[in-house]
Amino acid sequence: MAQDATNRRFVLNKRPTGEPSPDTFRLETTDIPAPAEGQMLLRNHYLSLDPYMRGRLDDRKSYAEPVALNEVMIGGTVSQVVDSRHPDYAKGDWVVTTGGWQDYALSDGALTFPLKTDMGNKSWALGILGMPGFTAWAGLTQIGQPKEGETLVVAAATGPVGSAVGQIGKLLGLRVVGVAGGPEKCAYAMENFGFDACIDHKAADFEEQLAKATPDGIDIYFENVGGRVFDAVLPLLNMGARIPLCGTIATYNNADEPSEGRDRTGLVMAKFLQSRVTVRGYIIFDDFGHLYGDFMSQMSGWVAEGKLHYLEHMTDGLEDAPEALNQVLRGENFGKRVIRITEDAA
Ligand SMILES: NC(=O)c1ccc[n+]([C@@H]2O[C@H](COP(=O)([O-])OP(=O)(O)OC[C@H]3O[C@@H](n4cnc5c(N)ncnc54)[C@H](OP(=O)(O)O)[C@@H]3O)[C@@H](O)[C@H]2O)c1
Repeated sequence: MAQDATNRRFVLNKRPTGEPSPDTFRLETTDIPAPAEGQMLLRNHYLSLDPYMRGRLDDRKSYAEPVALNEVMIGGTVSQVVDSRHPDYAKGDWVVTTGGWQDYALSDGALTFPLKTDMGNKSWALGILGMPGFTAWAGLTQIGQPKEGETLVVAAATGPVGSAVGQIGKLLGLRVVGVAGGPEKCAYAMENFGFDACIDHKAADFEEQLAKATPDGIDIYFENVGGRVFDAVLPLLNMGARIPLCGTIATYNNADEPSEGRDRTGLVMAKFLQSRVTVRGYIIFDDFGHLYGDFMSQMSGWVAEGKLHYLEHMTDGLEDAPEALNQVLRGENFGKRVIRITEDAA
């Protein structure tokens, strides 16, 4: 493809309070940078929008550094090398990397993987065959310790992590109950992902419905959201239950606000103690990076055999990135949220 004359990029303009607003990001146009020795210039084709991005907008201690003001917003991308002074990559190579919210990126090869172009749609490397799929696979198998016949509950059930967790759970012989926002998402999870049940967390009687759908209690709760879903799951946890603590998206836009009602920490701890619950938080590449090869061989095998269904919510145009992130945080995405930046991405 012909190279553009300029690079469009979103930088962090202002740290948000609550939900990111129109002045959180600023769209700029700059020259396309030239790679120095040891670097390559990448054309970003697909951009991934993920819940973790909200945390990087806040200037607080976390597992990763925040994005600095006036710096390009971070983001996973599927990109192609357009110019290389890097010994391991040549012009035309496809990679999965952290190219950020921009048309072009410079890379020294850090956090960059060659893209296997025989794996179906290239954008899947941002979802089922990438970080979210790996997060699902590792959290369920390593922390969830699934045993055939057990009951698994997972929320954000139509997203890339939740949908993979539930489907892997089915392949491993579990009874899988999803939780999702609305009847349309729930119907999709049962019909296409093969979940045994899926409960709408916005329903007035959500707690009762969840209890009815888990008559033998819950052995594994794959925690993606926190909030009301966690409250409903807690009394249903069985003796020896496991909780892979993957995310708490219900708190991402209000991390500094005290929660409503009385402090329930003591009750939660008592339940964990009495039921001998194992809770383990994890950050996928930090904790399980050494298993990436095992994940890829098992997951790409399942994908090739048609055993896993994958749902993407894709739109065109880099300029949609800020709104697309808000959609993910509000639950308005239906499937893995991806932006196709270029017209000739395929
Ligand atoms: N630990 C790690 O290394 C790691 C890596 C990747 C992802 N994660 C975490 O995994 C979780 C899922 O990520 P994803 O990429 O698969 O996201 P996703 O499912 O595509 O999007 C997030 C979904 O969360 C649900 N949600 C938002 N607010 C909610 C609320 N208040 N209560 C209940 N559900 C709510 C919405 O689905 P509904 O409309 O269905 O409710 C929304 O679509 C996130 O918490 C993310 O931070 C962790």
